[in-house]
Amino acid sequence: MAVVPLPRVLSGIQPTAGSFHLGNYLGALRQWVALQETTEAFYCVVDLHAITQDWNPDELRQNTLTSAAQLLALGVDPARSTLFVQSHVPEHVRLSWVLECIARFGEASRMTQFKDKSQREGAEGSSVGLFTYPVLMAADILAYQADQVPVGDDQRQHLELTRDLATRFNSRFGRTFTVPSGFIPEAGARVMDLQSPGKKMSKSLPPAGCVFLLDEPSVTAKKIRSAVTDTGREVVADPVNKPGVTNLLGIHSALSGRSVADLEQHFAGRGYGDLKKELAEVVADVVTPIRTRTQELVDDRAELERILAAGAARAREVAGVTVAAAYERAGFLAPAAGVVA
Ligand code: TYM
Repeated sequence: MAVVPLPRVLSGIQPTAGSFHLGNYLGALRQWVALQETTEAFYCVVDLHAITQDWNPDELRQNTLTSAAQLLALGVDPARSTLFVQSHVPEHVRLSWVLECIARFGEASRMTQFKDKSQREGAEGSSVGLFTYPVLMAADILAYQADQVPVGDDQRQHLELTRDLATRFNSRFGRTFTVPSGFIPEAGARVMDLQSPGKKMSKSLPPAGCVFLLDEPSVTAKKIRSAVTDTGREVVADPVNKPGVTNLLGIHSALSGRSVADLEQHFAGRGYGDLKKELAEVVADVVTPIRTRTQELVDDRAELERILAAGAARAREVAGVTVAAAYERAGFLAPAAGVVA
């Protein structure tokens, strides 16, 4: 009987903050864990992406380890998935350069995340890496021939660029890359900031609006208690007139698995205070075990490094094959035997 290969999955997360947040968890990481059951998964901490804006080297190193520990604590299982650090696999950068040369300046300029961030920093303050960031992301994905990419809604445009670059390379040089699809959840794809519910939850906004997985439960409860709600008293979802309450209901629903309609009934005749109190409990139930386990894993650095080294070795095997094929098709002279490429 022919063995049908499992679909391939690749995703990445930046180690920019010491802790992931609820948006990362609901938009992407929960799906990372679930997909391990049915796919061959590659998950990486994208440390190269974390230096496109100002960074501190010691913090980057520590945050990379804490990020890997959080992924394990969340349920990424190194016996089933390949977990690695992006900078340990030089194939990503080797492929990225070729993709940069087929990407067009105009299409990269249209990336909204680049436009937002570069507008804040100005042309003189924005790095060239910030501009080419989505092309490195495309290399991350294409190097593994990924079929599916579990991400939150904010990565849609980057995925579209990845698909365009794969198709362009394939049609010019022969079929080399799998053209991947996004795997974006229905609930939780866009978790909004608790203080500015018009903006997505993000580590780059003030911390009061962002629920970090490693926050103390009392800090989380306080952030949820202070979440901006809307005029009126009724706990109902209404994205236009009640964006704050709608966001809280959405988070509750994504975590508890209860539909928003069911929650509206549950809170009928009760106020925003009740919703916030219960939501803080629902969040604590999910994040407390993650927090505890992360701490244990961070304390065992040797074991973490062993897992990451094994992951990088496996990742290099797979990415190496793709990059060798892409280099050959692009016309680079193969190095003579004995020359290390
Ligand atoms: P990053 O590190 O900003 O975020 C990691 C994941 O979390 C999702 N996410 C959210 N989902 C819902 N609501 C939110 N408020 C929210 N904030 C973040 C993101 O969509 C993402 O899935 N460019 C990527 C990292 C990356 C990558 C890759 C992803 C690099 N290479 C290859 C997939 C494949 C990023 O900045 O994610």
